[in-house]
Amino acid sequence: MNRKILCLKDGPYEVRGPVRIEDADGNVTETEGMAHHLCRCGASQIKPFCDGSHETAGFVSE
Ligand code: FES
Repeated sequence: MNRKILCLKDGPYEVRGPVRIEDADGNVTETEGMAHHLCRCGASQIKPFCDGSHETAGFVSE
């Protein structure tokens, strides 16, 4: 299965494909091929994942 990271306009990184995501505390998420969204705006309350806060924060990717 292909692995891919998409940089969504004014939003998070979308991770596709089977990958292992490990946060700074060592918590692991295995994506099992499902798309996951990683915060790149810094406003998420559930880092490293996006919780949609980029919209209210007015994050602009470019
Ligand atoms: S990119 Fe969505 S909350 Fe940060």
